[in-house]
Amino acid sequence: MTGLIQQATSLMASGVTVQFGGFKALTDISLTITSGAVHGLIGPNGAGKTTMVNVLTGFQASTSGRVTLGGRDVGGLPAHELRRQGIARTFQAGRLFAGLDVLDNLAVTGVGLGHSRRASEIEAFRVLESMGVAHLAERQAAGLPYTDERRIGIARALMFSPAFLLLDEPAAGMSEAEAEDLAQLIKRIAEDFGTGVLLIEHNVGLVLSVTSHVYVLDAGQMIEEGDRSVITSSQKVRDAYFGADQEAA
Ligand SMILES: Nc1ncnc2c1ncn2[C@@H]1O[C@H](COP(=O)(O)OP(=O)(O)O)[C@@H](O)[C@H]1O
Ligand SMILES: [Mg+2]
Repeated sequence: MTGLIQQATSLMASGVTVQFGGFKALTDISLTITSGAVHGLIGPNGAGKTTMVNVLTGFQASTSGRVTLGGRDVGGLPAHELRRQGIARTFQAGRLFAGLDVLDNLAVTGVGLGHSRRASEIEAFRVLESMGVAHLAERQAAGLPYTDERRIGIARALMFSPAFLLLDEPAAGMSEAEAEDLAQLIKRIAEDFGTGVLLIEHNVGLVLSVTSHVYVLDAGQMIEEGDRSVITSSQKVRDAYFGADQEAA
């Protein structure tokens, strides 16, 4: 890692708006991810969570607003360049290379980051071990059970210790116990390596158990943000989650 990345103590969006044709997926959204802490991003389906992650990681250009990394403007940089600068992510759907084994799925990322094949394989094994899934190293990605596939997606994002890690519903489809294990792992990553984490997760209780600060999106708007007590006592959050259901019922 370069000195620049280690100095990057925050990844910040300021006034980000994303418009698809006449539809605003995000309206004037500001949020900050700081090093060494887990931040939550919650909200109903279609709220704009994935779009926000896409903007922060260079997969989606914003219509207006700024993205800064350690105070430097990085808006408009392509995804692979932001990954080199220490911003890693996972995807809602696995997106592993089905034809490659697990170790190579990770090693490819290392090579993409400019490391040698050998160094990438060593790093891949280290990351798999740290996540307790080294036994999967030689398995074909295509045949992996769903929860293992999700873990490998996270392992791949952890290659060469990114400064920031954005996780798009990493526990989807996992059992309560598996999701809880994953949440503790995510917390450890932030605490042990100083990684700044943004956790998108459907299970609000899980998010509240591991995050210091939570952002709540609804229909592209930031309707609430704060710590556990702010979120649990927010009428706006209750309305966003239950209001629409009650109207539909
Ligand atoms: N590329 C796109 N083109 C048009 N609409 C999009 C595109 N990506 C997302 N959307 C729309 O933007 C809204 C937010 O989507 P998304 O960010 O995926 O929400 P979430 O992740 O919170 O479920 C949805 O209404 C979705 O249909
Ligand atoms: Mg999504």
